[in-house]
Amino acid sequence: MDKKIKDIIEKLAECHSLSADEYKLLITERDEESAELLSIKADAVRREHYGTDIYIRGLIEISNICKNDCFYCGIRAGNKNCERYRLTEEEILSCCKEGYKLGIRTFVLQGGEDLHFTDAVLCNLIQQIKINHPDCAVTLSLGERSKDSYKALYDAGADRYLLRHETADSEHYSKLHPSAMSFETRMQCLHNLKDIGYQVGCGFMVGSPYQTVDNIVKDLQFIEAFQPDMCGIGPFIPHKDTPFASFEQGSVELTCYLLSIIRLICPSVLLPATTALGTIDKQGREKGILAGANVIMPNLSPESARSKYELYNGKLATGSEAAENILKIKNSIKKIGYRIVCARGDAKR
Ligand code: 5AD
Repeated sequence: MDKKIKDIIEKLAECHSLSADEYKLLITERDEESAELLSIKADAVRREHYGTDIYIRGLIEISNICKNDCFYCGIRAGNKNCERYRLTEEEILSCCKEGYKLGIRTFVLQGGEDLHFTDAVLCNLIQQIKINHPDCAVTLSLGERSKDSYKALYDAGADRYLLRHETADSEHYSKLHPSAMSFETRMQCLHNLKDIGYQVGCGFMVGSPYQTVDNIVKDLQFIEAFQPDMCGIGPFIPHKDTPFASFEQGSVELTCYLLSIIRLICPSVLLPATTALGTIDKQGREKGILAGANVIMPNLSPESARSKYELYNGKLATGSEAAENILKIKNSIKKIGYRIVCARGDAKR
């Protein structure tokens, strides 16, 4: 490893900030040694804030109906081969009950932008979850909504919101999305969520079509400025029924490298080792944790829904990705020196 790269890593670990040129060098000149050093630094910082604790979030995929047509996504409105479903309130509440028994204390309601889920429907649902499980956090991942809507859901009891920014470069954004969607709206939503008081998660795909190193540098600079409480990054994986079917998938190696960098930019960020990472590499989730991640999000959705919530081909929903196999998850995490804890795992600000 070049002395220059070593110095950049030292600086990042100390100042949690780099110039655009330094981020760029860190990425373009990366090798096994720089990855190793970054992961050692990231691990040290994570241990300072969270010890060896790994938080689990139960992911409930409430609907795969979506009004949007994002070019990368398997549940895009234009995909006629996607078999649509929507969970009932009873189904969602029963997923939470199951998850609670398994030790899960955060429920993530994720879904496409399905107009059925009005504020009234969601507020009632959130209130029910909070009545049944007052010691649990509710995270929403339901896309773009108005500020008033976000506020109503927050007032109903939602604690956190995940909305990946997808890319911090507006030109790149327009290559990933149809013209009906705008980069400015996305960013506005993220700021609105923060203003309201949510713990907010942003994030992006690694190796998405047309992504350049400069785009990734912008993502890192955005993360540095925005200071998210959570940050979801995972490799892009093509889905056969999308315009991006023939693009290559992102790499585990770069994803883990970026996880370490993000841990150093935001020392106390809640960083998941994502399903996408586990999908393209059997050891992906473990590699993510070793690189600096401290959250995993096993699937709590009913069996029948799982295969239909196919954002990308081959998406894992069984085995150690499934919440009912929590013991297997615990063991695999223990093996690499960490431990799954039964706690809400709120952001430390
Ligand atoms: N590959 C990887 N991640 C994807 N997502 C959507 N489609 C894909 C894909 N083909 C991610 C997006 C979205 C999140 C819910 O899933 O970043 O925000």
